[in-house]
Amino acid sequence: MKIGIDFGTSYSAAAAVIDGAVRTVAFGEERQFRTTVYFPEAVPDPSQFELTDALEAEVDSLVRNARSAQTRALNEAQARREQAARLPADQREAALALILAPAQRSETDLRRDAIRAVRRQWLEQQVREARASAASLQNAVYGEDAVEAYLSEGFGNLVQSPKSMLGYQLAPHVRQTIVGIAGYILEHIRLSASQQLGANVRSAVLGRPVQFRSSLGAAGGDQALAILTEAAAGAGFDEVEFLEEPVAAALGYHAQSAHRHRTLVVDIGGGTTDITLAEVGGAQAPVVLGSWGIARGGVDVDLSLSLSRFMPLFGKGATRVPAHHFVEAATVHDVVRQRDFQRRDAYREVDAPFGPRLIALQQTGNTTRLSRAVESTKIVLSGASDSRAELDYIERGLALASSADDLAQAADPFLGYLTELLAEVGAQIGEPPAAVFLTGGMSRAPYVRETVRRCFPQAKQVAGDASLGVVSGLAFAAARVG
Ligand SMILES: Nc1ncnc2c1ncn2[C@@H]1O[C@H](COP(=O)(O)OP(=O)(O)OP(=O)(O)O)[C@@H](O)[C@H]1O
Ligand SMILES: [Mg+2]
Repeated sequence: MKIGIDFGTSYSAAAAVIDGAVRTVAFGEERQFRTTVYFPEAVPDPSQFELTDALEAEVDSLVRNARSAQTRALNEAQARREQAARLPADQREAALALILAPAQRSETDLRRDAIRAVRRQWLEQQVREARASAASLQNAVYGEDAVEAYLSEGFGNLVQSPKSMLGYQLAPHVRQTIVGIAGYILEHIRLSASQQLGANVRSAVLGRPVQFRSSLGAAGGDQALAILTEAAAGAGFDEVEFLEEPVAAALGYHAQSAHRHRTLVVDIGGGTTDITLAEVGGAQAPVVLGSWGIARGGVDVDLSLSLSRFMPLFGKGATRVPAHHFVEAATVHDVVRQRDFQRRDAYREVDAPFGPRLIALQQTGNTTRLSRAVESTKIVLSGASDSRAELDYIERGLALASSADDLAQAADPFLGYLTELLAEVGAQIGEPPAAVFLTGGMSRAPYVRETVRRCFPQAKQVAGDASLGVVSGLAFAAARVG
């Protein structure tokens, strides 16, 4: 059986067409899951250390070695002293001064050092073993559960929105890791689909944005497709095809449209905004007339809101902490940037309250907590005029109130890009479409709908299923080609 897979920046979903109807694959209670995976690379509890007989023998051997090294050093020093004593009187003092007295450590000290060394080796071994076992599917946790597990465990690796990384310059080992992570996610989808659909799923139509988020231009898109193809093969798919996400959404909309009309499908997701113009509806097959896309989406609004509202609480604009530190802290999908931020030890110098808050932000899980707070502020402000984020994990009693105006300012650059794209599309297609079909999570935001309406005032606006618009169409495509 062939399924459709929407591997999204923020959320992923899968579906198949069975007896003419779309059947979505469930992930827990939901029909999509956050594109996030947690590997509990268990850092062992040092208090579990116990001197077993084998470790005791290692301690003894280390003590023996240290004792003989100490005796050797003492003997050598003694020999050199005797040699110096035989020198002429005027040279004797200077030569003696050069001979350092070796440390004479007690048995207790030698044993304490040996135990320390054995314990350190034991810990390293535990970490290695945990790492080896964490690299298996059974230990990975997906979706919201992944975030929950990471925050409650306080260790391990959380990988969020790996799709955002596919088009970037990647060191070979990072590329390999990302292939592996995308592979885990695709395998999770394949196994869930196989189990629920009662068939061994081995082929899929995978959605792809018109433009991947990329730092490498068009080559970034090629790299992204190569990584996904490799990942799918590793996940047990014998065959994958790619279909542009807005084209898929057009197929889904076609299936629910009785009358033939020219429609502009606008899919505004977490990472990208994708558009397709198509003739859909009625008995004839849909005809795709063109596609456009930009690598901008909901996460850009999040970043902008984080920098304009949240980061000033950490000293942005009020301290000499370089601006890029705040960007790194806010870019939770980029494991390398996260590590750079977490490892920096410059914030002790920064005045209170900012220094202590930055240090708190560096603690495991806190950039993730903050990014969730930013996203939920954005979502709340889609439907309310005020929102309050509690930031107790940074500082007791710390909270941030934001207003719809704050969000409007933060969303402004994104809406500017969206307007520009829609204007370009409008200019290219000439006659306006009869309908604009909206899908993607960001299409829930009233300010996004309003922007689209202003660009195509004559078109009827159709609100599609914001979460499942793309995956339904991918399922139709899979049924057709399969
Ligand atoms: N009510 C809402 N108001 C504003 N934004 C919302 C709302 N609901 C979801 N979003 C945003 O929608 C985005 C996710 O949309 P979606 O699930 O379509 O993305 P995706 O398919 O994972 O990403 P992409 O297609 O770009 O790879 C997130 O940025 C999320 O914060
Ligand atoms: Mg999407």
